[in-house]
Amino acid sequence: MMLHRLTIRRRLLVIFILIAFVGGAVQFLIAGRQLEAATLEFHQHHLETDALLVSTTFSEPLSHLLEGESDDGLGRTLSALQQQVGHNYLILDMNHRAIGYTANSGYQMGGKVTVTPELTRARSEGIGADIRPNSAGEATLYLAVSIQHESDMLGYLVLSEPMQPAYDDVNRRYAELAVATLPVIGLVIAASLWVSGSISKPIQHLRNSALLMAKGHLQTRIPITSQDEIGQLAESFNYMASQIDALMKTQRSFVSNAAHELRTPLMTLKLRAEALAEENLTSTERDTYLNEIQQEVDHMARLVSSLLILARIDEGRHPPEKTTTDTVSTLHDIIRNWRIEAQAKWLTFQADIDTNLPELPMSPNDLRLVLDNLLSNAIKYTPQGRVSLKVRHQHKTFSFEISDTGHGFPAEQGPRLFERFYRSETVRAQITGYGLGLSIVKAIVDHYGGRIEATSEGTGKGAVFTVHLPG
Ligand SMILES: Nc1ncnc2c1ncn2[C@@H]1O[C@H](COP(=O)(O)OP(=O)(O)OP(=O)(O)O)[C@@H](O)[C@H]1O
Ligand SMILES: [Mg+2]
Repeated sequence: MMLHRLTIRRRLLVIFILIAFVGGAVQFLIAGRQLEAATLEFHQHHLETDALLVSTTFSEPLSHLLEGESDDGLGRTLSALQQQVGHNYLILDMNHRAIGYTANSGYQMGGKVTVTPELTRARSEGIGADIRPNSAGEATLYLAVSIQHESDMLGYLVLSEPMQPAYDDVNRRYAELAVATLPVIGLVIAASLWVSGSISKPIQHLRNSALLMAKGHLQTRIPITSQDEIGQLAESFNYMASQIDALMKTQRSFVSNAAHELRTPLMTLKLRAEALAEENLTSTERDTYLNEIQQEVDHMARLVSSLLILARIDEGRHPPEKTTTDTVSTLHDIIRNWRIEAQAKWLTFQADIDTNLPELPMSPNDLRLVLDNLLSNAIKYTPQGRVSLKVRHQHKTFSFEISDTGHGFPAEQGPRLFERFYRSETVRAQITGYGLGLSIVKAIVDHYGGRIEATSEGTGKGAVFTVHLPG
């Protein structure tokens, strides 16, 4: 369809205007026809009343005339009537012979008149009408009524009147009708302009804003002017814009944080390398520098591998592994490892694991990543006391609870701990770390459709991390 190539605004306009014109024209024609019929009927009716009245006037004189008396009065009465009323009159006997007529009607006394439709009807029904051109070619209304005298039919009275005045009347009424219809069409067009404008303008706005956003103006918002579908669309657009804006900000700060974290070890590497270039170094100094270089490289390698894991998850490249894990034996492996770490710090390590745990629908590597990060945190942020791991399986859900008696954190910080590079003020200066471990854990848990919570009763009161995984 051609319409699809037009803008919504033009399409609405075309449809509205088409409907207005077609509707207006149909109304105009129907009303016009009715007006026309009514006007013509009025004219004819007027003539009929006249004819019936006049015919009774002639009943007496005609009966005298037909009985052979003089026709003295007839012609004169007709002329007087014509002057008063203005019609042309003709009186015929039963044989259609003209007996009396008004001037200029072109009849001859006693001349036979052709039988016309109005006469035929007047004979059978008492009255008949016909519209046809007269001898001069002008449309004329002919009306015939029978003249009766004491139940005898004596003849006919034929009235004729030009139709032009009636037609003029009809034309005048058509003109009036057109004058009344045009403002309505105008109104419909004005309304359609308004409606189409009110729909297409906000859409234009939306389009321009989208283009602006594509050029990088992420703060672009659309003013919401209505509560209708377009208003809702604008609202969703604004919501989308704010989400993208926030995402872009996180991405930007992620990159700058990552660069920042890499810069410090790189500076150390550079300084140590320069120091190693010195000629008169003792072997102890050399060993110390090399050792420091080794540590910085390890440090950077850990950061880079954390970043790589996050990048892989962000890109959706983290394998949606269908593998499952033998939960109990993997957990024992992990526990064995972290028990040693805990004991090295003189911490008590408690493990409480259901013996009849089913298989976990998660890759063993991912389970290790999650628990290694949580347990390493628990040990790292607990100077003394206890670290424990509790694992349960209930209602098709695995729950892992890692708790400690360490530094804890202010309760309101809970959700922020999962943000990338976020580290709580209290530990930042004393304990090293990048603030990436928990964001990796959360990304993995989300990936498997699970959830994670961090709770603490406050600084110095220990922390509890709970992971729920479907399975
Ligand atoms: N068990 C805990 N007790 C108290 N605070 C914790 C605990 N675990 C995490 N936190 C807080 O949450 C922050 C983020 O932890 P996350 O594991 O993401 O980073 P990190 O341990 O500092 O560094 P890394 O990237 O090496 O893991 C920590 O800096 C710390 O402030
Ligand atoms: Mg950590």
